[in-house]
Amino acid sequence: MTRLDPPPTDPAPVPARDLGLDPTLGRQADGIWERIGPLTGRNQVAATFYDGPGWNRFRPWERLFLGFQGGARRARRQILRHLDPLPADALVLEVGIGDGENLRFTPATWTTYGADLARSQLLGCIRRSPSMSDRLVWAEAESLPFADTSFDACYSIGGFTYFGDHARALSEMARVTRPGGLLVVADELPQIHRYGIGRLIPRKLMRFGPRLLGVDPDFASMVFDFAADPEAAIKLAWPGATRHAIWTGLGYCYSAVRPEPLSTRESLGGTSDAGPLHHP
Ligand SMILES: C[S@@+](CC[C@H](N)C(=O)[O-])C[C@H]1O[C@@H](n2cnc3c(N)ncnc32)[C@H](O)[C@@H]1O
Repeated sequence: MTRLDPPPTDPAPVPARDLGLDPTLGRQADGIWERIGPLTGRNQVAATFYDGPGWNRFRPWERLFLGFQGGARRARRQILRHLDPLPADALVLEVGIGDGENLRFTPATWTTYGADLARSQLLGCIRRSPSMSDRLVWAEAESLPFADTSFDACYSIGGFTYFGDHARALSEMARVTRPGGLLVVADELPQIHRYGIGRLIPRKLMRFGPRLLGVDPDFASMVFDFAADPEAAIKLAWPGATRHAIWTGLGYCYSAVRPEPLSTRESLGGTSDAGPLHHP
């Protein structure tokens, strides 16, 4: 069996309680742990987009993009390969897991948890992968409801650029990962529409591009008015991270080993006072 083949069985899940999730607090009946607060700014726009029809309308274009990168498996392996050093029984968190597309390309011997701010995406994840029930949290990347050092690795693919607070999300990803664990974040370049053929299209007309592709007006405005620098935030929060160009230069991927101590922890503060998970 190769690393990417579907496995015959799913490993026994780690009880969510051991990860700092208190079952008495807001557990949902449908397998999703609810830890979402009032959303603002980019996170509010993103949740509306990914929870509504906009993402389903846009998704074929994402598939087309990945198709041009050699297909979903090859395109995602450019990122997921940085998790290859993990042991077969790794405990992993995907932030912005969506409906769990990456689960098809990661070893099923891992125990994967997921966080996302779009509840309908989490429901879709359970529909596609029933074993994810009880392993998903409805939460922002900026406030992960897991105990410190819970995971062997934490990764995020495809959502990071428009996260509401890059520094806080990166700090949270590092906090919930054990020292020596792996951190990976990857996404398209911000303003990807300005590259390639996009350069030839007048800016005024470009504003209609995402609308024509089915994207919500608010999300389209967020993309066009975006002025943050997610890569600068990564370099600051994870100083040892290595940059890898992906998707023929249209995307970025950073991989890092979670250091001890965390450089940003004191300034941004941990969000969990639960003890670390015992994971041999
Ligand atoms: C393009 S999808 C990618 C899904 C999946 N990771 C993949 O690779 O196919 C981006 C996901 O990130 C989620 N997301 C965006 N901003 C987020 C945030 N601040 N916190 C948690 N999830 C977020 C969205 O709801 C969406 O499900």
